[in-house]
Amino acid sequence: MHKVALSFNDGRTHFIGINSNEVLMDAALRHGLTLPVDCREGVCASCKGTCQSGEYDLEYVDEDALSEGDLSKGAVLTCQMRVKSDCAVSFDFDSSICTSAGPEVVETRVSRVEVLSDSTATLHLDASARDGQLDFLPGQYAHVQVPDTEEWRSYSFACEPNADNQLQLLIRLLPDGVMSNYLRDRAKPGDRISLKAPLGAFYLQQVKRPLIFVAGGTGLAAFLGMLDQMASNPEKAQQPVRLFYGVTRPEDLCELERLKSYEQSIADFSFHTIVMNGDESWQGETGVVTDLFDESHFNGGEVDAYLCGPPPMVEAVKSWLDQRNMENSRIYFEKFSAS
Ligand code: FES
Repeated sequence: MHKVALSFNDGRTHFIGINSNEVLMDAALRHGLTLPVDCREGVCASCKGTCQSGEYDLEYVDEDALSEGDLSKGAVLTCQMRVKSDCAVSFDFDSSICTSAGPEVVETRVSRVEVLSDSTATLHLDASARDGQLDFLPGQYAHVQVPDTEEWRSYSFACEPNADNQLQLLIRLLPDGVMSNYLRDRAKPGDRISLKAPLGAFYLQQVKRPLIFVAGGTGLAAFLGMLDQMASNPEKAQQPVRLFYGVTRPEDLCELERLKSYEQSIADFSFHTIVMNGDESWQGETGVVTDLFDESHFNGGEVDAYLCGPPPMVEAVKSWLDQRNMENSRIYFEKFSAS
């Protein structure tokens, strides 16, 4: 039995189990997902998706359905696809086409609030009451209800999925934010917190080229999840990984020990930090995250770049790449605003 993540344009992801004798379309149907279908014979391409990671076979593909070029980019026909490993398959339409079910609501309890600095905290949640592992792709996020309010906020998972369902969310502490105030003033172990997950289309795809990770502030969370996954699955860490991590003030830098530990647990990983406003005690780099870049980091443009942070940071990195004609680099990004 393998696990397949089916992700859709609206940011929803559904995880299904698939048997070795099943084609993906049938397994999806068994889980209540009716993927688009017409011929069922590999001819019409109504059931087309793109495999972002994992190994698979396609039984029959008519040349009118998918070209060699489509196939080389991971295009698949779900009526002909048998998986040989866990896979992630994306579709160019919303999940509402195949199901009316929304994201799962998961009931959790606060394990602890770990204050990393006056600007950042990790909220540790225990979702072990859930029946079975909560699946998500590292890089995805949860919609989280602030206790005793009707307010929901979005945070990336700062961990990989695990059988104990122990979850981490990295949260920026604002001077006056509804979640920030809860964490500072009222949070205590045992508090109930509801979350909806998994959400988002930002996740680690098949790793075939060197990786550039660029994090702004608590955008680091998405990369902590991906790096956890690489540390525990060496086959996902066969390429160099460079993380560039920029924050506003030195005290905003967090999880540096954890980042150092990945230098031991991931074959070729290094990270570089920069702060916008250094002070007299700051010995490191000062500026914006693109000031850390050197063209030698980018393997002649043959890289996969993942960007997660505030919109100006994402735009600055994209324009840095554009100006250097790195059109062969693939860019995946998630923009967020602290709230
Ligand atoms: S349904 Fe026609 S190719 Fe799959």
